[in-house]
Amino acid sequence: MLLQLNSVSTSYGKIKMLDKVCLSVDTGEVVCLLGSNGAGKSTTIKTILGMVKSNNGQILFDGQDIGKMKTYEVIRKGISVAPEGRRLFPRMTVEQNLEIGLAANQEDSAELKDRVYQLFPVLKDRVNQAAGTLSGGEQAMVAISRALMQKPKLLILDEPSFGLAPLLVEAFYNTIIEISRQGTTILLSEQNAGKALEVSDRGYVLQKGAIYASGTKQELMENDLVRKCYLG
Ligand SMILES: Nc1ncnc2c1ncn2[C@@H]1O[C@H](COP(=O)(O)OP(=O)(O)OP(=O)(O)O)[C@@H](O)[C@H]1O
Ligand SMILES: [Mg+2]
Repeated sequence: MLLQLNSVSTSYGKIKMLDKVCLSVDTGEVVCLLGSNGAGKSTTIKTILGMVKSNNGQILFDGQDIGKMKTYEVIRKGISVAPEGRRLFPRMTVEQNLEIGLAANQEDSAELKDRVYQLFPVLKDRVNQAAGTLSGGEQAMVAISRALMQKPKLLILDEPSFGLAPLLVEAFYNTIIEISRQGTTILLSEQNAGKALEVSDRGYVLQKGAIYASGTKQELMENDLVRKCYLG
């Protein structure tokens, strides 16, 4: 397994937010983390990244215990994230935002930029535009592109299609499939279960900070709870 959470619990102060979460992602997989508002998806991601400290359990990445590492150390191990809300630097250009994603001393910056411009051709015409003036869809593309610049072993996407028009979501998800085909392992957090399951191999459903259901794409699509609560 590339990433493994063994019974991870996290609290904000005295309030327990994640309760014995077990989750794994194998190399080459696309795994989705489903759940409604406040279920704990972003908290799970922040815990993996060391932005929130777990108080119990174990987090293994690439065979190493990363549970006590600082965020920058976790990122150096090869995890990168397109965070909730995108968090671009609005006054910097698209190109500058991408360069922030580069790992230190990375020499193939031009190649990496070419790769993301191939994935998201519209960005090529916007390289010198301030990120804050981009459309919502374009900003979502820059957030993923920035995360790809460090050639992560694991790419984490926290609600990447949030706020996008349905037609754009479709195109966006096709690009996520393409990123996976090119060899990047993906953990995808989504409220939009239908769309996320379509592109995923497996998934987990979080409810009130605990894993409520898990399984292959097929198993989750046939699961009564998932159908009722998340697939409409
Ligand atoms: N820093 C914090 N301090 C206290 N409580 C927090 C903090 N951050 C998040 N929470 C709470 O933890 C719970 C889980 O939040 P989280 O952001 O992980 O949910 P989520 O599944 O990502 O939801 P959404 O789909 O709305 O982004 C929520 O009830 C939230 O209010
Ligand atoms: Mg969230």
